[in-house]
Amino acid sequence: MVAKNLPFTKEQLEQIIDEYGSPFHIYDEQAIRTNARRLIKAFAWAPEFKEYFAVKATPNPYLLKVLREEGFGADCSSLAELILAEKAGICEENIMLTSNDTPAEEYEKARALGAIINLDDISHIVYLENYVGLPEMLSFRYNPGPLRAGGNAIIGNPEESKYGLTREQLFQAYRIAQAKGVHRFGIHTMVISNELDPTYFIETAKMMFDLVAEIYRELGIRIELVNLGGGIGIPYRPEEAAVDLEFVGRGIREVYEDKIVANNLYPLKLAMECGRMITGPHGYLVAKVLHKKEIYRDYIGLDASMANLMRPAIYGAYHHITVMGKEDWPLDHIYDVTGSLCENNDKFAVQRPLPRVDIGDIIVIHDTGAHGHAMGFNYNGKLRSAELLLKPEGRVELIRRAETLEDHFATLDFSGL
Ligand SMILES: Cc1ncc(COP(=O)(O)O)c(C=O)c1O
Repeated sequence: MVAKNLPFTKEQLEQIIDEYGSPFHIYDEQAIRTNARRLIKAFAWAPEFKEYFAVKATPNPYLLKVLREEGFGADCSSLAELILAEKAGICEENIMLTSNDTPAEEYEKARALGAIINLDDISHIVYLENYVGLPEMLSFRYNPGPLRAGGNAIIGNPEESKYGLTREQLFQAYRIAQAKGVHRFGIHTMVISNELDPTYFIETAKMMFDLVAEIYRELGIRIELVNLGGGIGIPYRPEEAAVDLEFVGRGIREVYEDKIVANNLYPLKLAMECGRMITGPHGYLVAKVLHKKEIYRDYIGLDASMANLMRPAIYGAYHHITVMGKEDWPLDHIYDVTGSLCENNDKFAVQRPLPRVDIGDIIVIHDTGAHGHAMGFNYNGKLRSAELLLKPEGRVELIRRAETLEDHFATLDFSGL
């Protein structure tokens, strides 16, 4: 069970809405820092442990700066994300580029920043060489396919997922890259997303450490860095439990000692690239109730829509909802909580028991701090909301203003009509 507490009161939210309007996403900086420290502590035993925060989860440079201050690097998957990391002061090997179907300009930018490039395919060795030259260090993304069960709707099961190299290709890729003069190597995998079972991450580490030992035996290549990817889940539902990070840290340490230290492969650097577990539980989408509608079902219409938070619509994901000021009221009404898109799946909750909701109520949708605002889009001309940061001292900072119609029409030239 996890308590769905809020870091603000109804009165504070009313003041914030007066100043910034609604809807908006708001992130709790202190809680994010505490979370970041917990992850780093759980892996403090590992040589030069690095968390490359998955920028795609919450691509806001102010948050990236907070995380940089906590010692995080950045996992980037596009040119825009590389630029955001750079703006946040993250540089060189504190950045890892893990993209797929990668255009040359992404490789060019990654090379210019001195980032670690993690190739998604064996054919990209020559592509990279031809367009921007090979760096001294390269990493490859491993897709274990049928050798590893797992996956889900978000990431696909490994055999059907488009990412990474097969096992055979992986060995060949290290051989080719070494022959071309690359002399520092990393290895990466990401086989699961939003996973709450802590043993899964230990199993993945085992698989990767075995691979590191085999690569050394077969090719004589000492891998320098293992990146176990992200994918640590969060308890979106109150009845779920958060992943015990200390358990994961201890479990991976045992496998590390068994497979790396015992095989004289120490020191092997360990990295992760979690996004969701760092910021996810500490972001909230705040909206107001615009309308109520009673037809075959009872509907609550918000001033936010799936353009602000897509997860319920695309994954059927549960996000907890608090009606501010009614926390202790009985949950004696059943509602579909909707946005205004012309899409019937624009629903934040379906048949959700809630207290009686009234027009003007403030609604808080929980756990939107990762893959929330980031996945926003502009269908139906809906504008993306502001992002706010709740500072440790209680002040609120605007870290991204809301889009305006001028932003929305900026790519249109009406004068040609
Ligand atoms: C390559 C890669 N790394 C890291 C992440 C972050 O995953 P999560 O936010 O679930 O930790 C993702 C998510 O899509 C990803 O594709």
